[in-house]
Amino acid sequence: MVCIEPFVLPSVELRMLPTAKDDTIYLDHAATTPVDPQVLQIMLPYFTQQFGNPSSLYRLGQEGRAALDRARSSVARTLGCIPSEIVFTGGATESDNLAIEGVAWRRRRLQGDAPAPHIVTTSIEHHAVLHPAQSLQQRGFTVTFAAPNEHGVVPAERVIAAIRPETCLISVMYANNETGAIQPVAEIGRIARERGIPFHVDAVQAAGALPLRVDDIGCDLLSLSAHKFYGPKGVGVLYIRRDTPIDFVQQEGGGQEEGRRGGTENVPGIVGLSAALEKAEHLREAYVTHCSGLRDRMEEALFAAIPDAQLNGPRDRALRLPGHLNVAIPGVQGETALLSLDMQGVAASAGSACTTGNAEPSHVLMAMGASEERSRASLRFSLGRDTTADDVDEAVDILIETVERVRELAGAR
Ligand SMILES: Cc1ncc(COP(=O)(O)O)c(C=O)c1O
Repeated sequence: MVCIEPFVLPSVELRMLPTAKDDTIYLDHAATTPVDPQVLQIMLPYFTQQFGNPSSLYRLGQEGRAALDRARSSVARTLGCIPSEIVFTGGATESDNLAIEGVAWRRRRLQGDAPAPHIVTTSIEHHAVLHPAQSLQQRGFTVTFAAPNEHGVVPAERVIAAIRPETCLISVMYANNETGAIQPVAEIGRIARERGIPFHVDAVQAAGALPLRVDDIGCDLLSLSAHKFYGPKGVGVLYIRRDTPIDFVQQEGGGQEEGRRGGTENVPGIVGLSAALEKAEHLREAYVTHCSGLRDRMEEALFAAIPDAQLNGPRDRALRLPGHLNVAIPGVQGETALLSLDMQGVAASAGSACTTGNAEPSHVLMAMGASEERSRASLRFSLGRDTTADDVDEAVDILIETVERVRELAGAR
């Protein structure tokens, strides 16, 4: 293993350093986060000075190669794996697709389709997992989508009960992007290991909030996206445990990433991802304390002022990501509330931000048994490093005003 110095000095600050961000109260960190200014500084030289192609043999190229090696070792250290088990991708959507399609097609290639290879996943996965699983279904694979309970947690027994002799992959997210519900991945990982079934975990929302050591999770594949932990957009990781049966069906090309993902590497992005992950891991405990304290404050103020609001997700806060608060406010359309909040400088989300503009009610809330009406009346607030007590107090005041106004108008009709 290459011995490396960390990118980030120990004197990291929890509070974001000043950025060019306007005075929006940004409560949508589950959708994306700003790039940490220290991370940006570490990335910058790789755009303009050390811009060489890592495949080139001269010094500039080899500087790029060395940066990639450092980044790979750094990510491996956080995940507790070896550097060769890390593949850099163009984000978690690509990582999820590669994991699911790659393992499924490998099984099909080696064993044919009698019986059809089977995948177990859950009905609350992000579309980056659901859609490739559904598309494999259309191409002759079979898939079981295990359902969550009413709090948005998929009990391990439901996943385990779905396993068949022909199951070739289990894919379960670490924590849900809409509700923040943390899933029993370690329990599922233990069973997957016992039965010799590759286990993929979409850990996109967990980075910086939950431990990421792959042996503790018990997974063989794990996806991350840098922009969810104060790194740049369009760059991600797929961890692949050595000896995992997988074909690299997705992106052939110049043989980069050991032939697993062709294409000239995004050196500044990868450097940014690794620095951001180091920092997120370094700050993890402080981040959890900071966000959960403010989230609890927001939740209490919101429910005190709007007593008929309904929490979407586990009531037990230990089962929820520290920065997540998803509520349904009866009689108030989420989209209407969002527009009103936006006009008053608060950015939040109705359902999953990745499906904004999609008129469908949230598949996650519906799978939890919510009515279409409740699902459409839901709002997600997700806090971050830079959120302050003033931010959450002001956001709740604005929300209360909005709710009163919408309800008054509805009553006047
Ligand atoms: C749980 C989860 N998985 C996958 C993704 C996809 O990430 P990206 O859009 O960065 O590819 C997201 C994005 O919101 C997510 O929340």
